Amino acid sequence: MESKQVVLITGASTGFGRLMAETLARHGHTVFATMRDPGGRNAKNAGEIRALAKRESLPLHVVEMDVTNEDSVERAVSVVVEQAGSIDVAINNAGYAVVGLEEGVTLEQARQLMDTNFFGSVRVNRAVLPHMRRQRSGLLVHISSGAGRVVIPSFGFYCASKFALEALAESYRYELAPQGIESVIVQPGAYQTPVFGNMVVAADQARTETYGVAKGISNKVGGALAAAAGNPQEVADAVLQIVETPAGQRKLRYRVSAASLGVDEINALSEGVQAKVLEAFGLADDVAFVQRSVAGAS
Ligand SMILES: NC(=O)c1ccc[n+]([C@@H]2O[C@H](COP(=O)([O-])OP(=O)(O)OC[C@H]3O[C@@H](n4cnc5c(N)ncnc54)[C@H](OP(=O)(O)O)[C@@H]3O)[C@@H](O)[C@H]2O)c1
Repeated sequence: MESKQVVLITGASTGFGRLMAETLARHGHTVFATMRDPGGRNAKNAGEIRALAKRESLPLHVVEMDVTNEDSVERAVSVVVEQAGSIDVAINNAGYAVVGLEEGVTLEQARQLMDTNFFGSVRVNRAVLPHMRRQRSGLLVHISSGAGRVVIPSFGFYCASKFALEALAESYRYELAPQGIESVIVQPGAYQTPVFGNMVVAADQARTETYGVAKGISNKVGGALAAAAGNPQEVADAVLQIVETPAGQRKLRYRVSAASLGVDEINALSEGVQAKVLEAFGLADDVAFVQRSVAGAS
């Protein structure tokens, strides 16, 4: 097992983020559970996390971070580095879904979604990477989704945000490894978290109304997802295992779900295709070097 890590988690007020924070801290890792507005609308969640930390003497801290605000992200990362002296793991978890027929999603809704689910990770990674580079080690974890690989009608913008996140995370992996830094992707299936209650509904009703029978797609999909939802602790346990896997031995993608939906097959196929892509661009040796670099840097 790796030594104890300093871990920053985004969107740790509820759901996977909260469970990951508690699970990692209970295993001795120093965790900074970041969230929006811990003094206001998340005061109850922040208070519960702090109370748990006190009760169980856990290395678990609450820090304010809104991933859509660059200053807030930079401030939170500075707090972590000042308090802990380093930052070993950044878990990009903050996110939500927009549901509804794609034409009913307004541009503003689409922008906000990308600003959180995609640009949020861009901001966080840009803030933590200089510190990881100095250490010549680090781990970026991206909480994607099966919806980062397959397309679910009425979740098109959510899928787009997670497809985008997957592309970025994979590219980071190839580029960062020579510096001892790894990038991994976690693809959960449906799990019982507040995510379903936090879904934003496509606002342009007038457009949606024109769709006749297709208007029923969102409800059908939402119902099926909620019915299939498993215990979210599975995702927290999977992330704990990833964090505790020695550097250089971590996979690029981890599917965590009782239902495959073909995601594992796409991942396997993509691995082979990517190897050919790297070969075609004359990068295969660089990437082989990259894998060795991470293992060697740990
Ligand atoms: N549950 C599932 O079935 C499932 C499946 C696949 C992937 N995922 C992904 O897992 C991640 C966590 O979701 P969850 O299921 O745990 O749902 P959740 O309980 O709703 O958690 C989402 C978290 O993201 C935070 N967040 C939203 N916008 C933010 C922002 N601008 N800045 C900082 N934090 C922000 C929320 O914070 P606030 O309290 O401030 O709103 C909340 O803590 C998401 O990326 C989601 O897409 C979930």
